[in-house]
Amino acid sequence: MYDLLIKNGVVVTHESSFSADIAINGEKVAAIGFPGFVKSAETVFDAHGKFILPGLIDPHVHMAHPFQGEPSADSVGAASKAAAFGGVTYLIDFAIQWDKSLNLVEVVNNRLKEISGQCYVDFSLHGVPTKSNEESVQAVTLTKKEGINSFKVYMVYRQQGRMVDDAILFRLLEEMKKSGGTLLVHAENVSIAEYNQEKFTSEGLTAAKYFPLAKPNSVEAEAINRVLFLNRLTESNLYVVHVSTKEGVDLIRLAQANGENVIAETCTHYLTLTDEVYERPDGSNFICSPPIRKQADVDALWKGIRDGTLSIISSDHCGFDTRQKQLGEGDFSKTPNGLPGIEARLPVIYSEGVLKKRISINQMVALTSTNPAKTFNMYPRKGALLPGSDADMVILDTDKQLILDQKHLHGNTDWSPYAGMKLTGFANSTLLRGKFLVKNEVFVDNNNYGNFIRLS
Ligand code: URP
Ligand code: ZN
Repeated sequence: MYDLLIKNGVVVTHESSFSADIAINGEKVAAIGFPGFVKSAETVFDAHGKFILPGLIDPHVHMAHPFQGEPSADSVGAASKAAAFGGVTYLIDFAIQWDKSLNLVEVVNNRLKEISGQCYVDFSLHGVPTKSNEESVQAVTLTKKEGINSFKVYMVYRQQGRMVDDAILFRLLEEMKKSGGTLLVHAENVSIAEYNQEKFTSEGLTAAKYFPLAKPNSVEAEAINRVLFLNRLTESNLYVVHVSTKEGVDLIRLAQANGENVIAETCTHYLTLTDEVYERPDGSNFICSPPIRKQADVDALWKGIRDGTLSIISSDHCGFDTRQKQLGEGDFSKTPNGLPGIEARLPVIYSEGVLKKRISINQMVALTSTNPAKTFNMYPRKGALLPGSDADMVILDTDKQLILDQKHLHGNTDWSPYAGMKLTGFANSTLLRGKFLVKNEVFVDNNNYGNFIRLS
């Protein structure tokens, strides 16, 4: 006797698709077999006509991300509820050392307190040291004991106190080589970005449409080139976040061909939007770093997705609402950076990727679930539907189609970058460790929250 049987669906993994029933006991997948292989279970869910995917993993999420001391509208509860509606069962947020008087272990423990008991899906954290001294290097070893083995550094945002210099970037790569951890890098050339920002500001050119001109492709490309070089020297494990440019993908492809350990991620918005968004009346809503690029870059990113150069699609979810976006009064240099997208990622990638035949549905599973699980050593506990895996899954309804409107979404932001797009393929139901979080499009508030998943 099983606790739960999901029957009559088509199971989709990163490798294949097949009709099967899934039996669940407790938090785990107990068995997968031919349709009808289980005669009875305590609860039965009929997934006829639907796809069953491993729960999506979003390895790049900012919940309640501060700007001028105020957290983004998408609180932990709101963003993680939106995640559940987007089929996401596991996300990785950040423990950023905003307060340099705290060491990284304290920062991690504070962030865990903020998230635990609020987050509806399982979660981990990337540690983000911000001090350009040896303390950041030592912090890596200490933080590993807390179950954190991936770290992110910023090559930009110097004025906000988030950047580390190249010496510490280099030393952190050396440490990752020793510890087997992964270093995520936000690669943008700070000097050119700051120079351009000052120049544009002094000339009064601060509207959103000038933002991509202040951070042209070269700002990303130079920084990716530099960090690839440092990774080559250290033979380390580099993960380049949110790649947005053709030049960036080309550089990463060459490094990978050279046998270097480089994982690269892009995001839903870089694959589906162009810099024309900055001309819109609500253009400043779209301020994010790096900026949204041209169609040639979008095409190059899809090419990079297809040939495996880019192996992960994240959302880089950072949900500021319109009021918060307007805090900068239209001045790009004063506008909080980041876009909401954790919920729309699944229908947007299904519609723009799978239905437009840019990728297969199995590649979509790889890019949004299996590859992040493998990258962060969580496979096959997560990112898989195998006996013994966590029973995390999304039941995808590919008959559901709509013109996306804010009212369809469940986070706290009052706008979506994807509003107005005709989208197909939405999560009908989402299960986290054997329990429905969303069932037939309705949130199941069973007072269950996600677990902190320790990374090794
Ligand atoms: O523009 C971006 N990527 N914002 C995300 C939050 C941050 O500042 O890292
Ligand atoms: Zn980010």
